[in-house]
Amino acid sequence: MKQRDIAVIGAGGHAKVVASTLLAAGYRVSGFYDDDAEKWGKYIFDIPIVGSINDLKSNKYCQVIIGLGDNKTRQKLATTLDFDWITVVHPFAWVHPEVPLGVGTVVCAGAIVQPGATIGSHVILNTKASVDHDCHVGNYVHISVAHLAGGASADEGAFLALGSTVLPNLNVGAWAFLGAGSVATKNIPPGSIALGNPARIIKSAVEA
Ligand SMILES: CC(C)(COP(=O)(O)OP(=O)(O)OC[C@H]1O[C@@H](n2cnc3c(N)ncnc32)[C@H](O)[C@@H]1OP(=O)(O)O)[C@@H](O)C(=O)NCCC(=O)NCCS
Repeated sequence: MKQRDIAVIGAGGHAKVVASTLLAAGYRVSGFYDDDAEKWGKYIFDIPIVGSINDLKSNKYCQVIIGLGDNKTRQKLATTLDFDWITVVHPFAWVHPEVPLGVGTVVCAGAIVQPGATIGSHVILNTKASVDHDCHVGNYVHISVAHLAGGASADEGAFLALGSTVLPNLNVGAWAFLGAGSVATKNIPPGSIALGNPARIIKSAVEA
């Protein structure tokens, strides 16, 4: 058992998954911190939702992880708060031992990361995500039950929705959104929204 107390920012569905990942990996979760006052005093599992994110600032000595699925929000918190961010990998995930994982990154149950990949900071590799050999995943990316084929990449803040796939060596640009079930057969430009199989750009960065 690692026996370290970790605070989780957020108290919604993703925070619950993050907490269960921490517990499965042998950490203790000290509490949840969320700016929704209606949640304060309630519990997730048997762990209290203690108070606001501001309340957590007074506790400089604990380690913290962000349990929020929205990429912009994670970026904002990670760049404005000065915490000792923890990285966690579920024991039922597999990450090749030479793959670097950035700070604050969560690798959920069933996710697989193959050799040669690089994974940035505050990334979510959600349930059953797969990142194949030599992929690059930038900071604040969220890969839900989605798949990056060999040599593919997702730049900072990109979101790969449920069941989406990026074909080999292709790129999803920064802050782009690849919709549920969509297949990227070409590069997806930064800031755009792409849907369908093959994925079509329905909104470019200027409109998005
Ligand atoms: C892109 C997304 C947000 C669209 O949702 P929406 O805005 O509610 O879309 P609507 O249901 O209003 O559909 C609008 C149109 O787009 C189409 N469409 C919606 N999602 C689509 C998708 N993923 N692929 C292809 N077409 C899609 C609809 O069929 C509809 O077409 P129509 O106007 O011809 O009938 C949604 O598909 C998606 O990807 N959600 C992400 C879910 C997810 O992964 N969450 C993370 C969990 S960890």
